[in-house]
Amino acid sequence: MAEQLDKRIYTLPTNTEKFDLLAEKNNEALLGGGEKRIDSQHKKGKLTARERIQLLLDDGSFEEIGKFVMHRCKDFGLDSEYYLGDGVVTGYGTVNGRLVYVFSQDFTVFGGSLSETHAEKIVKIMDLAMKNGAPVIGLNDSGGARIQEGVVSLGGYADIFYRNTLASGVIPQISAVMGPCAGGAVYSPAITDFILMVENTSYMFVTGPNVVKTVTQEEVTAEELGGASTHSTKSGVTHFACANEVECINNIKQLLSYMPQNCEENAPVLPYDPRGDEKIKELNDIIPDNPNQPYDMRDVIELVVDQGSFMEVHKNFGDNIVVGFARLAGRSIGVVGNQPASLAGVLDIDASTKGARFVRFCDCFNIPLLVLEDVPGFLPGTDQEWNAIISNGAKLLYAFSEATVPRVTVITRKAYGGAYDVMNSKHIGADMNYAWPTAEIAVMGAKGASEIIFKREIAQADDPEIKLQEKVDDYTNKFANPYRAAHRGYVDEVILPEDTREKLIRAFKMLENKVDSLPRKKHGNIPL
Ligand code: HXC
Repeated sequence: MAEQLDKRIYTLPTNTEKFDLLAEKNNEALLGGGEKRIDSQHKKGKLTARERIQLLLDDGSFEEIGKFVMHRCKDFGLDSEYYLGDGVVTGYGTVNGRLVYVFSQDFTVFGGSLSETHAEKIVKIMDLAMKNGAPVIGLNDSGGARIQEGVVSLGGYADIFYRNTLASGVIPQISAVMGPCAGGAVYSPAITDFILMVENTSYMFVTGPNVVKTVTQEEVTAEELGGASTHSTKSGVTHFACANEVECINNIKQLLSYMPQNCEENAPVLPYDPRGDEKIKELNDIIPDNPNQPYDMRDVIELVVDQGSFMEVHKNFGDNIVVGFARLAGRSIGVVGNQPASLAGVLDIDASTKGARFVRFCDCFNIPLLVLEDVPGFLPGTDQEWNAIISNGAKLLYAFSEATVPRVTVITRKAYGGAYDVMNSKHIGADMNYAWPTAEIAVMGAKGASEIIFKREIAQADDPEIKLQEKVDDYTNKFANPYRAAHRGYVDEVILPEDTREKLIRAFKMLENKVDSLPRKKHGNIPL
């Protein structure tokens, strides 16, 4: 008996052997799907899941969770093919010292496809992120649902979508698409706050080129159908198209710097050395004398905000509106500006949805809003009407109206028609509204207005053209200025352009403790 026992004890591994086994397993996990597949990943110009995490997080800050998780599938030969981690690296760490949760799909393991256990790992860090109030960064590179697992993997996706929805507006969620992202898998990034894609190595579509060809007979490549440039220009699905993975990860870090950790906190404030004199003389020369001549609203933004702090979002989509994050005296703000350099800054469907989404993000996360307004109205035409400019324009109106963050507007030039109301007017809750002396606040442009209200008089005149010009001049003198609105208090102050930065710094400081809330409700019903 004793002999038997000794024999058993003798065969038990020593502690050193146990420690070695752990090291072995750790090394195995680090290799994902193996050297060959890692080489193939690199040959495609892509980094591995772990290399991406290393680039994203502060040195040495990554703590991995679920490194040894394995799939549970016994079908289609998977009972003899296991990889530690099961195709996704998950955990937490810091970006510039601030806690974030991260998942990074590993294409070298079953093409990064999502299994039951892969989904469980993502769900686990999402739950932790929600309980601890910190952002979730998803680095997506996946062939979609693990085909061998069938409905179990579909359930895993739904578990993630559900959490994406619950987390929306509670913690920031950022998705980088760094490889394939197809089928229903696209809906997780779509629910998150920002999507970044890498040019030439990533794509997103609900159905791929083969299915498209079968159903619609269209011939299209994956890149054309759902590559970074397609989604950053045509569909607006992605907010950033990045030249490579390093640029993509740097953009994530910069984006995070403007945001709070969660909806209960404020964004970090950077130290700011007041220059003493905040006058910006160059602003006086921005608006051309001819009211129909364009200028670039980005020039106004760059001059008004802290130098070099503007990060444009959705740069190549809906060009007639400019949105992005910036800092004013060190504090994060969201900037929304009409862009006279594109379609005269008119509001159309794309501009409205782009603006609305951005305004809602800022409002969710306590980021004050600055609106720079130069808008001739909504874009006319059958295309716009038939594609629902009514409901889409209403989204922007709704988004501003329900925003409770500090909101300041500067009318630089045109504020015409319904667009005047929509673009953060006093009437829909803006806190401070300024206008430059070049502002024109009216129902419509002088020519259009005169042609309507003086139609008969002009037609009956000896020289209708001279009569029209007389009426246009008269209307311009009366209405194409900011003073009617200022007399009413719709504009709080008419200011010289050079004083804008100083006024805004003071206004946002005055508003920094603003408390406002919406009527009690389950949730509103934005016209989707
Ligand atoms: C299991 C998968 C897989 C998947 C890829 N692999 N996709 N394994 N389930 N969905 C495996 C491959 O077998 C291969 O294994 C390895 O990953 C790399 O794949 P390759 O085809 O060699 O790579 P590549 O040529 O780069 O092509 C990548 C790909 C292609 C375009 C993603 O693999 C592909 O089309 N996969 C299937 C995509 C798909 O139909 N997914 C389901 C979509 S529906 P080895 O062992 O050779 O390395 C969906 C529904 C979600 O996702 C619904 C949510 C509601």
